Amino acid sequence: MNKNKIIAIDGPAGSGKSSVAKMVAHRLAILHLDSGAFYRAVTLTFLRNKIARPFNGPKVEDLLRCTEVELRQIGNTLQVYLNSEDVSTEIRLKEVTACVSEVSESALVRKIVTAKLRELAKSESVVMEGRDIGTVVFPKAEVKIFLTATPGERAKRRYLEMAKAGIDADLNEITYAIKKRDKIDSSREIAPLRQADDAFFLDSTGMTMDMVVDSIIREYNKSLNKSD
Ligand code: CDP
Ligand code: CDP
Repeated sequence: MNKNKIIAIDGPAGSGKSSVAKMVAHRLAILHLDSGAFYRAVTLTFLRNKIARPFNGPKVEDLLRCTEVELRQIGNTLQVYLNSEDVSTEIRLKEVTACVSEVSESALVRKIVTAKLRELAKSESVVMEGRDIGTVVFPKAEVKIFLTATPGERAKRRYLEMAKAGIDADLNEITYAIKKRDKIDSSREIAPLRQADDAFFLDSTGMTMDMVVDSIIREYNKSLNKSD
């Protein structure tokens, strides 16, 4: 039987999830879903509507009900739409990054985003990346990867990425922001960032993206042999 497959990639900021998930999806010709983009788009809506903590209650519920987030693969890039507006660049701004982990602690936000992610993967194979994909969103995913790298390397990657894009960046500031986000993401009550018991641990420190992709494809092939 040709069953849809889920490849779940979880890990902290800058571990390479988005870049390698995109490459894995391309190699396997399946869909790539960046769950972080959903949390970032919701955060942007909250900022625009001046919604403050706690991120729950009827006003927030109403706002979320009329918030439609959509991912579109356009050429080589994954674009993010908020009620049909392209917010791909805006959701990566410092202001959004600074609040996204606090918004993601909200039970209401997580419930809505998780339901949407499950819906999107209902009818086709996907590579989905985030923090709780292998533990909460798809605990029965065929392949689970816990991708990480040292905090120093992750911050350096982000710094280089920003420098390449011509954005003025400060390595110390990036390191601080990454560590702060890791701490909130790992210690929250609901769906914290943690390695699923049956996930493959992959420390990508010093590894190229191709090496990481090859390791993930190997795990994927092993899962195919298991299900034969
Ligand atoms: O790309 P980066 O690693 O910086 O972050 P992201 O994947 O865009 O995710 C942004 C934030 O969304 C994370 O720091 C988490 O707070 C939250 N998130 C989450 O709680 N659960 C997920 N499955 C994905 C992201
Ligand atoms: O999605 P996440 O925050 O986990 O990381 P990313 O946005 O995919 O990767 C952050 C930066 O690290 C990107 O500029 C990648 O090109 C780079 N990277 C790298 O240099 N080596 C790797 N093995 C993985 C990612």
